[in-house]
Parts: sequence; C-alpha cells; structure tokens
Amino acid sequence: EIMLQQTQVATVIDYYLRFTKQFPNVKKLAAAQETEVLKLWEGLGYYRRARQLHAAAKIVVAEHGGKFPVDFEDVLALPGIGRYTAGAILSISQDQQLPILEGNTIRLFARLMAMKSDPRSTQNQKNLWKFSKSLLPKKRCGDFNQALMELGSLICTPRDPKCEQCPLMNLCPTFLNSLQSEIPVAAEKTKYEDINEAVVLVPRTIKGVQKYLVRLCGSGERWEGLWDFPRFLLEKEDAPSASMRGSGNKKRSESHSTPAQQLQDKLKKQFGLTAEIKPIDHRIKHAVTRYRITLDCFAAMSISGRLKTSKTELAWKTAGELDQLAMSVTGRKIATQIKRGNQLKMFG
Ligand code: ADE
Repeated sequence: EIMLQQTQVATVIDYYLRFTKQFPNVKKLAAAQETEVLKLWEGLGYYRRARQLHAAAKIVVAEHGGKFPVDFEDVLALPGIGRYTAGAILSISQDQQLPILEGNTIRLFARLMAMKSDPRSTQNQKNLWKFSKSLLPKKRCGDFNQALMELGSLICTPRDPKCEQCPLMNLCPTFLNSLQSEIPVAAEKTKYEDINEAVVLVPRTIKGVQKYLVRLCGSGERWEGLWDFPRFLLEKEDAPSASMRGSGNKKRSESHSTPAQQLQDKLKKQFGLTAEIKPIDHRIKHAVTRYRITLDCFAAMSISGRLKTSKTELAWKTAGELDQLAMSVTGRKIATQIKRGNQLKMFG
C-alpha cells in the first residue's frame, strides 16, 4: 500500500517483488540500514515513503512484538499511514469493514454522487468518506475496496471514461446526464516553480583510481537520505534581485556573478575546496513535485584545500561504487554517464 501511494500498480510490481525478497518480514526490514531500504526504492519517487515505512517497521518490532497491528488506531499511529492506507491494509489483510478514499475512488464517487463542487473541500471530503463507508459489504471488504480502485483507474478514467464498459453505468447520474468532462470539478492548476541548480563533479585520483565526491543529503533536503554529487542552487544570472527590481539600476549585483564564479565560492564555503570550475555541456531537466529543475553540470579542476567533513557525510566513490548507492534521480543520471565513460566528453 505504501508503494502504491501516488504510483501505478504496474510500476510497483517489480519494486515490490525485489523489496519483499530482500526484506521478507518486518524484522528484516527494521534491522536494515536506511541506505539499503532507499536503494531498493531508487526510481520509485516520494522517498519519504521509504523512510517512513522503515521507521514503521522499527515501531512494529519495538512496540508490537514484530507483529503488524490489527487495531485501526494502532495502524493509523504508524508513520506514513493515514486513514486511506490504514483502511486499505486492514480491509485487505483482515477483512475489516473499513472504507477507503484515494485519487481513483474520489473521481469514481464524485461521478456516482454527481458532485458539482470541488471534491477536495473539507465538506466534500467528509461526504465522500461517508459515501465510501455506506457502500461497504458485510464480507470481502478488501476485495470490494480494491475493485473500486480498479474501476476508478481502468474504467472511470479522468478523460474519456469507458462508461459503456462500466457495471455501474445505469446508476451513474454523471453518465446519464453526460457530465463526465465536468465531474469531478478540476483542481486548481499546480503552480510550478522553476529552479536552476548546478552539480559539480569533483574528481580525485586515489591510488591511481578515479573517484568522485558524493554527499549524503541531510534531513529537510529534497533528496533526504539519498546520495548526490555536490549540488548548489544557482541564482538566476539575468533576473534582477527583488531589491533591484524596478530601481532602474542595470548593474549586476554582487550575487549575480557567473554560475562558475558562484560555484567556486560555494565549493570553497561548503566543502573547503578551492578549484577552477568549468561548465560541462550537459543539462538535465527534471520535474519533482511542484519544482521544475534545470540542472547544469560543471567540473572542478586544479583542486586544492582540505575537505570540510563536519556537516554532511561525504565519500569518494568510483564509477562502479556509485552503483551501490541510493542516489537522487538526477544524481543517478550523471553517475550513469560517468560509468559509460562519458565523463571524458563531459569534462570536455
Ligand atoms: N488498485 C487495486 N488494488 C489496489 C490497492 N490495494 N492499492 C492501490 N491501488 C489499487
């Protein structure tokens, strides 16, 4: 269920099989290192789910003797588990008579209820939960809930629902009144934020072997718990800062130096290294949650200075060793380029 949050069943299957092979029971999962758990989650996204699942496993071992609780309130108290997930887990595994409500069933119910206002409103959420509860059969609630989700995802699709294949066709006021494109009422458009980041490859030859500097992202960071190359936020070169906006002052402010200069300063400040920074002609575009990230790659040359090790966990890894780490999506893309030997090209 945790893997299935925000992720399609078809995508989850391989991850699920690999995960449960490695961690066949809750004790094994609780005893694992977080990096091992994240490695198996790599590419699935929403990594907080993996960290919370790991934390939940530890609680199940510490507080429930290693047996997954079957009391709704106990399940709800586990990290990363809300009303939907608790209901899904207990209806499917214990046949408890508990309702569910998630993306697919919200759409399905909104249509079955002919809901003409935003289904995300507090009042409508209350009504949707009530509706979900009212449908529950006496037995096989897990199968029933899963069937509802499947109906929502395969038949009652957001666009062009396959109403002629729907077993509830004649009960559905939305179908009967041809309101499929108006119900559910559309969400407000996500406001995307564009951000420019830079990754700096910091190579070092250790005993004749080429290695790269990587760091473990700390708590509160976007890629918390995952490894990444040194990454920095770039101030936009051409955008005037807020304080300058409208002042008519066209002069570059101190902070709007070139990306290479900014990175040189940041590398010195955060990592204690002095280096010449050269752009590599490599740009990665990546969208995550509401951020649209443009990531430009740079290489550090003629490196000197002593690496600051106090704040974050740092390591030097060969291209092969990078394979073993759980990395951010973009970090992995760069690691793959390095492994393919493209770093030569990347280094110009
Ligand atoms: N679709 C079918 N069964 C499901 C489940 N248990 N969780 C999420 N989506 C599903």
